[in-house]
Amino acid sequence: GKTLKILVLAGDGIGPEVTQQAVHALRSVADLGGHHFEFKEMAIGGVAIKKEGSPLPSSTLEAALDSDAVLLGAVGGNEFNQLPPDRRPEAGLLGLRQALGGFANLRPSFAWPSLSSNSPLKPEVVEGSDILFVRELLGGLYFGEPRQWDRETNSAWNTMRYTRDEVVRVTRIAFELAGKRRKKVTSVDKANVLEVSQLWRATVTEVARDYPDVALDHQYVDACAMHLMNTPRNFDVVVTENLFGDILSDEAAVITGSLGMLPSATIGGAVNLYEPVHGSAPDIAGKGLANPLGAILTAAMLLRHSGGLESDAQAIEASVRQVLEQGYRTADLARSSSPGIQVVTTQEMGKQVNETLNHII
Ligand code: NAD
Ligand code: IPM
Ligand code: MN
Repeated sequence: GKTLKILVLAGDGIGPEVTQQAVHALRSVADLGGHHFEFKEMAIGGVAIKKEGSPLPSSTLEAALDSDAVLLGAVGGNEFNQLPPDRRPEAGLLGLRQALGGFANLRPSFAWPSLSSNSPLKPEVVEGSDILFVRELLGGLYFGEPRQWDRETNSAWNTMRYTRDEVVRVTRIAFELAGKRRKKVTSVDKANVLEVSQLWRATVTEVARDYPDVALDHQYVDACAMHLMNTPRNFDVVVTENLFGDILSDEAAVITGSLGMLPSATIGGAVNLYEPVHGSAPDIAGKGLANPLGAILTAAMLLRHSGGLESDAQAIEASVRQVLEQGYRTADLARSSSPGIQVVTTQEMGKQVNETLNHII
């Protein structure tokens, strides 16, 4: 068996609801596979502001750096919306990302066969689509200096900045992963307007020479947003800068039927960070409506990338596939109420995945 120290940061809104189900799945995997997973729970985001006066308490940061993997739910809430960026719940998450050092945020968007009629796109457009976004996570507008809202001049600015090395390292990850998939990388930028994108494109082109068996193409971000909806099957790995990746990965959720389906893993730093792509969803928090599958699939990515437990990761993914095939749907996926479809709560969905896991492992 394998020993893993996992720090659980459930956060705000639906974060605790979906994270609880992800932890259940991990506990089942540990029990069934003879592993020893040690869970520690701490505060981040809005709950941490309320409890400890900071969105990223130093105790949380220390525990994160001391763990083998960090599993995060979501942060953010409407009551904090008037605060400046550096005091909001989101600042806790960004500080954590920076401290852990992971620069490559892997965001798979996979069209689950039984959900093809859940997408507003036509089933024949989404069927077979399987995209891996590699979103650069520590650069660009999110962290670039200078940044300020100058109230005297009524102007504000942020800086989109990348160094060549930052582009090289995330590009290498994208090409390595593409080599194990369908051997195609699409790099997304705005090189027709932005210098930083010209650096991005030149660097990606140069790195690509080291991977002759992987095809590279470049798209402008505006066209990419359109191609994703028109011909999602044409994409394999998409590598892009921080903000473009944030936006395009939420857009790609439409292919799967719901933002609640998307997992993510952030690799390349001292400790890997695992979080579903969605946020705290204040509009549905506390109602048992949240889809836990994105969080549960995030747990699978944790097993794969931090535990080396590929077969256990696949067992979770197979369980998700099976409960979807059996017709279980949280409300976000209950777009079409056809016979055989059963609408369930967050908890019931988690329980179905667990019961299926018991048969698979
Ligand atoms: P959101 O992702 O929270 O929600 C967008 C829409 O998708 C909402 O209608 C929501 O109900 C739905 N949705 C999201 N996850 C779902 C799930 N698991 N099941 C069913 N439906 C789901 O984005 P938002 O509303 O723009 O932001 C809300 C807050 O979350 C903000 O404070 C934002 O900063 C924060 N946020 C945090 C993270 C994170 O912690 N990683 C990510 C995104 C947004
Ligand atoms: C995400 C979120 C975060 C981001 C916010 C909450 C800081 O939208 O993880 O996609 O923009 O990276
Ligand atoms: Mn986002």
